[in-house]
Amino acid sequence: MNLLAIESSCDDTSVSILKDGNPISNVVSSQVIHSNFGGVVPEMASREHQKNIIHVTKLALDQSGIDLLAIDAIAFTNGPGLPGSLMVGSSFAKGLSLGLNIPLIAVNHMEAHILALLLGEKNPDFPFLCLVVSGGHTMVVKVDDWNRMEVLGSTRDDAVGEAFDKCAKLLGFDYPGGRQIDETAKQGNPNAFDFPIAQMPGYQFSYSGVKTSFLYFLKEKGPDFIQKNLADVCASIQKALLAPLFIKTKMAMTELGINQIGITGGVAANSALREGFKELAEKNRWILYVPDFQYCTDNAAMIGKAAMFKWQAKDFCKFDLQTEPRLKIGQ
Ligand code: KG4
Ligand code: ZN
Repeated sequence: MNLLAIESSCDDTSVSILKDGNPISNVVSSQVIHSNFGGVVPEMASREHQKNIIHVTKLALDQSGIDLLAIDAIAFTNGPGLPGSLMVGSSFAKGLSLGLNIPLIAVNHMEAHILALLLGEKNPDFPFLCLVVSGGHTMVVKVDDWNRMEVLGSTRDDAVGEAFDKCAKLLGFDYPGGRQIDETAKQGNPNAFDFPIAQMPGYQFSYSGVKTSFLYFLKEKGPDFIQKNLADVCASIQKALLAPLFIKTKMAMTELGINQIGITGGVAANSALREGFKELAEKNRWILYVPDFQYCTDNAAMIGKAAMFKWQAKDFCKFDLQTEPRLKIGQ
């Protein structure tokens, strides 16, 4: 079974070819155009998708060695995401499906991030707990099956990746600056400065307080001090941003009596987060799953993995399906 999957929900244009559910190619074209603007500019993102999508598709097919005429189904991200970006991918997918006369499969981007955990050599069995940490989402999800997921809690305001990027911007790093905080923090002391950790009920998160306190801290200390202590500043703010993730996950694992935990989304690439969860897993006898980096950030292979379950269930979509920018898990 050969599947062509398309992801275009935000600022990455990606196409993956999967054979029997395993990615043979996974091409991702990340839009650098937004780096000067401190965030993704939606109009520019759709235009970039338009410019790149055929090129990325051809590359994914070439790398897979599978001919377009040998493709059995087309999958695409139906939401959540930026409306214009989603429409480029979905219209292109509909055109391919019509032209090749093969089924079309609509995929929920967040469910796909979670099912990316099944792309590894060693996969979790259902049920497992999943922490989704990206630029747009921070949530704790109980995953009972590919189509049965329960969001236990999420963020009240900013997502953790967004908080990383906003703090990075205040430090003068290019967008998205999460990775640069991670890199700089490696030389620093995470206990050098204290930042507040929001006390939220249940499995909820909030990042607005720590962000504001970071802004005041930078203003009070001044640029020279910050520059001299940059590694310590990065390590300390990173510690405050990651702490709620460790606390809430531990709480959920204990309360639910689950022993498998998966972490996915772009922030799963963070080295302190990986190290922290490795230690927690060893201490608590959890089995920890983190996808390969290429499957943590936005990619079409995860869309293809989610689509394979729908293919098996013959859950195809109609041509008049409209994209859902605010699609929620389970919808
Ligand atoms: O999943 P993703 O590629 O896109 C969304 O769906 O949001 O996640 C992107 C986010 C950005 O906020 C980026 O700064 C963050 O992941 N990120 C990191 C690291 N690598 C990427 N944050 C902290 N440390 C990293 N190493
Ligand atoms: Zn994403």
